[in-house]
Amino acid sequence: MTWGLLLAVFALLLLVVQLLRFLRADGDLSLMWAEWQGRRPEWELTDMVVWVTGASSGIGEELAYQLSKLGVSLVLSARRANELERVKRKCLENDNLKEKDILVLPLDLTNTNSHEVATKAVLQEFGKIDILVNNGGRSQRSLLLDTNLDVYKELMDLNYLGTVSLTKCVLPHMIERKQGKIVTINSLMGVMSAPLASGYCASKHALRGFFNGLRTELATYPGITISTIYPGPVQSNIVKNAFTEEVRKSVGCEGDQSFKMATSRCVRLILITMANDLKEVWISDQPFLLMTYLGQYMPTFMLWLSSKLGKRRIENFKNGVDADSSYFKPLKKKHE
Ligand SMILES: NC(=O)c1ccc[n+]([C@@H]2O[C@H](COP(=O)([O-])OP(=O)(O)OC[C@H]3O[C@@H](n4cnc5c(N)ncnc54)[C@H](OP(=O)(O)O)[C@@H]3O)[C@@H](O)[C@H]2O)c1
Repeated sequence: MTWGLLLAVFALLLLVVQLLRFLRADGDLSLMWAEWQGRRPEWELTDMVVWVTGASSGIGEELAYQLSKLGVSLVLSARRANELERVKRKCLENDNLKEKDILVLPLDLTNTNSHEVATKAVLQEFGKIDILVNNGGRSQRSLLLDTNLDVYKELMDLNYLGTVSLTKCVLPHMIERKQGKIVTINSLMGVMSAPLASGYCASKHALRGFFNGLRTELATYPGITISTIYPGPVQSNIVKNAFTEEVRKSVGCEGDQSFKMATSRCVRLILITMANDLKEVWISDQPFLLMTYLGQYMPTFMLWLSSKLGKRRIENFKNGVDADSSYFKPLKKKHE
């Protein structure tokens, strides 16, 4: 066998190994590398003050639990104070934090007039904000033609303007200290789009543009990091709380969650993103991860595929099946 042939076999093997790794991946390749070789959240995030919005449920709630194990000081915000108190009590069950380390701060993201006062309250309590996690938000399950325009306004007010407003209040403090992390939980729907969620997609695409723009404005502050995280389907109450045709009517039931990523796994990857100051991160099981890569690098093909898959999504929605579960049979989850 010649050296040339040996090299070709080696290259082919390497390609197959990389392909297999990609098929098993549940995050983009930079994130997977950071998880393997990067800085550990346990080393990087301790002693920080972290403000999490949307902390009363789902991803934000799990973030509170995992952050509390790292010994950070926590500010928990959402609208429902009783749910935040429940999350706080559970955080205190592990002995890393004391009562004084967790501030429950009820906040409505759509009430932007309250954001300045809330920011002052955090600074008064802890003296600094190291990390703002913009996580609070709602999704949508309705077709444009059936949907009241007010739903579109609400989605922008909450997911986009609410996040912009809170970021604008916290940023001067980070600029003064020349350090801080602004971490935003966007969605793969902020990179791609799908039917039944046109308003949600718009709000998340808007966030992507906003934070990419802001990052360039902050180029003279290398100590301030803007991280945008794009999860695919994750177990939470997102579908239950999703807007439908009318502002006051949400979906009301969560439906099948078995095919979605476990919340704990998603949050672990969020912590790795924070510890490594990654700027853009995709977190998702296959086939959604593959679809995102296709959308990024083969947009025309992906637009064609989306319209085929979209038809199925709408049909399933009309038959009462969770829209996302319609694409493929669940793949075996390795992290559950
Ligand atoms: N789960 C997924 O599949 C998925 C995928 C991609 C992206 N995401 C994003 O992840 C984030 C968290 O969602 P989740 O999946 O954890 O859903 P979730 O379980 O429904 O939690 C949403 C959180 O947002 C809060 N919230 C809603 N409206 C608010 C308002 N007006 N002001 C302040 N807080 C508000 C809720 O608290 P209150 O009701 O108490 O206010 C709750 O704590 C969202 O930004 C979502 O877009 C989720």
